[in-house]
Amino acid sequence: MEQQLIDKQRIANSFSNAAETYDSLADLQREVGSQLLNYLPEQQPEELLDLGCGTGYFTPLLKNKYPQAYLYNLDLAFGMLQYARENRPAEHSSWLCADAENLPLAEKSIDLIYSSLAIQWCENLKQLFSEIQRVLKPGGKFVFTTLGPETLSELKTAWAAADTHIHVNRFVEQQELQSQICENLKLQSFEEEFKQLKYQELKGLTDELKGIGAHNMNSGQPAGLVGRERLRRFKAGYEEQRLSDGMLPATYQVFYVVVEKPLEN
Ligand SMILES: C[S@@+](CC[C@H](N)C(=O)[O-])C[C@H]1O[C@@H](n2cnc3c(N)ncnc32)[C@H](O)[C@@H]1O
Repeated sequence: MEQQLIDKQRIANSFSNAAETYDSLADLQREVGSQLLNYLPEQQPEELLDLGCGTGYFTPLLKNKYPQAYLYNLDLAFGMLQYARENRPAEHSSWLCADAENLPLAEKSIDLIYSSLAIQWCENLKQLFSEIQRVLKPGGKFVFTTLGPETLSELKTAWAAADTHIHVNRFVEQQELQSQICENLKLQSFEEEFKQLKYQELKGLTDELKGIGAHNMNSGQPAGLVGRERLRRFKAGYEEQRLSDGMLPATYQVFYVVVEKPLEN
């Protein structure tokens, strides 16, 4: 329990610290979240939740699509919410600093939940989906993106050449993800997309991950400074993966998922 709380705090701190730099570096996140908007239903919700809203980039877009809806923007990182509230204020909405696995929302209170690239940070997906099931109204939808295990595979390969520690977050496979969607929720669609980003130098990728707050939070990471020799092997391991065009690749496996809470009989 203590370990879990510490990890959540670290995740929250890391994203809070990244609030000012996030928007300038999050091209992929913007692209994925914009694509996710296409999966949203036409029907206007009364109560709408952006789960893991980050800097609130999607706040005006959600407000534009659903002008009548009351919007809850929720995030674990207080710094992210502060930034979002200052930079993307919205009427008929509120800002909640909370954990997706323990939602401060009433049972059957939300019509639609939008969530882009946030739930991969959750500790316990069964708990998350049970919370989603609890707060959704019957007929309500959870429309989200998350990352698959092939995400940052080049980074994993490079670190494997250097040591045996876990340096890249553990992203769950499609089957495991689906098995966590609890019985009362129904999977409507599941799509996968691979996106490849390219960098001239490795520093471009590592600075970007740091600047969006998404560096490794797994408890298996080594304490203290990473040794010089390990770093050299890591860099060499990444360099070996340069593409024929001379660029360094970073792959993202993105899942686009729509889940519905069935109407009660
Ligand atoms: C990669 S950012 C995505 C932000 C935004 N959805 C976007 O697409 O720009 C992930 C966000 O999820 C939040 N987050 C991580 N774990 C969370 C949790 N357990 N509950 C709520 N938010 C969480 C982080 O604080 C961060 O703001």
